[in-house]
Amino acid sequence: MAESILDVRRLAKPDAYAAVADTIEQLLEGTTDRVTAMATISAVLHHGFGFLWTGFYRVVSPALLRVGPYQGTVGCLEITVGRGVCGTAAAERRSVVVPDVDAFPGHITCDARSRSEIVIPVFDREDNLIAVLDVDSEQASTFDADDQRGLERIVTWFARADATD
Ligand code: SME
Repeated sequence: MAESILDVRRLAKPDAYAAVADTIEQLLEGTTDRVTAMATISAVLHHGFGFLWTGFYRVVSPALLRVGPYQGTVGCLEITVGRGVCGTAAAERRSVVVPDVDAFPGHITCDARSRSEIVIPVFDREDNLIAVLDVDSEQASTFDADDQRGLERIVTWFARADATD
């Protein structure tokens, strides 16, 4: 177990994501539970980077996302697939990077302090979309290709053969 809070804010992004991924890997060793993984990944990312909101929306029916484990202020409970940044990432099964949330048509505001956002689709081993990982920042233009790569790599955990609900 990690004994202190991992803070990667001073590291270059590739190093920061490598450190976070290692910590997550260690913490989740022997775990197959997806909700446990979502909670642990949210906590490590949130405190490691000091994000505003970090968490998962789970696919509960083909057209509906419902909030799962997260860190931050109270999130919207449900998001329709196709709506907002999360719903767009889910509908298009691709990562969406939003440098300025005010410039994203249909952005859903859960915490008014959010200025930029990234949403990563989460797939199981059969390539079914099971969730999206949503990360929000109080600063504009926080997220770039390094964040996308780092986060996409972290959520490959859910494509492992033994992951269960
Ligand atoms: N901004 C998101 C909604 C979720 S919250 O930010 C936690 C969106 O537009 O999908």
